[in-house]
Amino acid sequence: AETHHHDFVVQATPVKRLCKTHNTITVNGQYPGPTLEINNGDTLEVKVTNKARYNVTIHWHGIRQMRTGWADGPEFVTQCPIRPGGSYTYRFTVQGQEGTLWWHAHSSWLRATVYGALIIHPKPGSSYPFTKPKRETPILLGEWWDANPIDVVRQATRTGAAPNVSDAYTINGQPGDLYNCSSKDTVIVPIDSGETNLLRVINSGLNQELFFTVANHKFTVVSADASYTKPFTTSVIMLGPGQTTDVLITGDQPPARYYMAARAYQSAQGAPFDNTTTTAILEYKSAPCPAKKGVSTTPVFPSLPAFNDTATVTAFSKSFRSPAKVEVPTDIDESLFFTVGLGLNRCPPKFKSSQCQGPNGTRFTASMNNVSFVLPSNFSLLQAHQQGIPGVFTTDYPAAPPVKFDYTGNVSRSLWQPVPGTKLYKLKYGSRVQVVLQGTSIFTAENHPIHLHGYDFYIIAEGFGNFNPSTDTSKFNLVDPPLRNTVAVPVNGWAVIRFVADNPGVWLMHCHLDVHITWGLAMAFLVENGVGALQSIETPPADLPLC
Ligand code: C2O
Repeated sequence: AETHHHDFVVQATPVKRLCKTHNTITVNGQYPGPTLEINNGDTLEVKVTNKARYNVTIHWHGIRQMRTGWADGPEFVTQCPIRPGGSYTYRFTVQGQEGTLWWHAHSSWLRATVYGALIIHPKPGSSYPFTKPKRETPILLGEWWDANPIDVVRQATRTGAAPNVSDAYTINGQPGDLYNCSSKDTVIVPIDSGETNLLRVINSGLNQELFFTVANHKFTVVSADASYTKPFTTSVIMLGPGQTTDVLITGDQPPARYYMAARAYQSAQGAPFDNTTTTAILEYKSAPCPAKKGVSTTPVFPSLPAFNDTATVTAFSKSFRSPAKVEVPTDIDESLFFTVGLGLNRCPPKFKSSQCQGPNGTRFTASMNNVSFVLPSNFSLLQAHQQGIPGVFTTDYPAAPPVKFDYTGNVSRSLWQPVPGTKLYKLKYGSRVQVVLQGTSIFTAENHPIHLHGYDFYIIAEGFGNFNPSTDTSKFNLVDPPLRNTVAVPVNGWAVIRFVADNPGVWLMHCHLDVHITWGLAMAFLVENGVGALQSIETPPADLPLC
């Protein structure tokens, strides 16, 4: 196994998109940032130097970080931010993971432009469980704002209203042909007739679930969130922010140009659907060249599902299986029920009306089990836990709200108005955990991509309406459920996940729509050390930023 060293300099860089140049926070001047490629078993060592005027941290999304929780990255959870002028070297070893993950800033909304792919190849001498693709291409779906994303979220926090939606969706940082001033930079993905290539698709967008497809071609899904899946074919995939999906695509069509395109599924904040599509071009090497007279070089346009096509999403997500029978935890020690959803807070007495511009003079909020998660600002949760610093968090995480809510929206007022808190749920090392994630759909029906740090989990079931503990258990797949780090909890529905708490530390679980984490749709697990060094978190490095 090797150790790979990289230097990440976080800095403001002029980036031109949609006809205007913006001073954009990037890594090493690149947007999207550098792609990191390693082998399973290797160690990554990334020195992050902050030359921007914002605090920053980097999260290695989906990396398990076994016993290295202080390298995970979420601000005020596992570390204090790297202040302007500061630096921190993230060091961790990848153990047993292969496929496509990614890295992104985990501080305010900086990840809008600070993100990149993290590709883990099989160990030298071993290979993919599918035919080796000729080419491999990362496809990072993203969102671009004309405004500074940090200003967008600050404005929303100030007014209590929903933030502005992005001005473009992007593929590898480019909006593509259908947007103003974007044609000449449209991304070209090459393919040859007859060859099979791998697309490593990542939804790195902030607030938007996205459909992705390629005109006239079919995908074979082989992996998601860096876990192999039983291969299945589909013409369209859907990814919530945070999710990755690897697909094989074969050059089996007449040599030409074909659009690959992504467009919104649902709308992250109840705002009107933004009818825009980002495109790149799949180009056959033997396609007629643009200069040739009488030959159309306009790419073939795909058809994409409608923005509210939940049936397609459901069929797609139900196609996921692990490649073989897996060891799903049974004899559950911790059976948890967490509600996830938005709410509206009454305007607090001393607020001006300009600070309460949510629906009917309220402020938007979001919660899990009616707690709107608040990050500490004086210590990281992990530091407070390890050093026994009192007053930073409490471990009285509440049980699900006592009122049985109804996803149609007939809920008691108390569930509209969650209580702010920094509450952790404590887990004993090795406990077998099941979590029912129940969307509340109180303010608006949405699909929530729930991401758990430090773990992969099995998604054993999903469904619509209220989870029913006496009948829905019959839907549990305990044979070959998919292993993921982010689950798209269906619109008006629920999902059930299971994992074994074998990684000590403090691990955030949150909705990966950034506007929802801003509003508090998060919680954290505190996983205690087990017995002996191999079941305990390692000593943090000396340069770990403390507050
Ligand atoms: Cu992709 Cu909390 O992160």
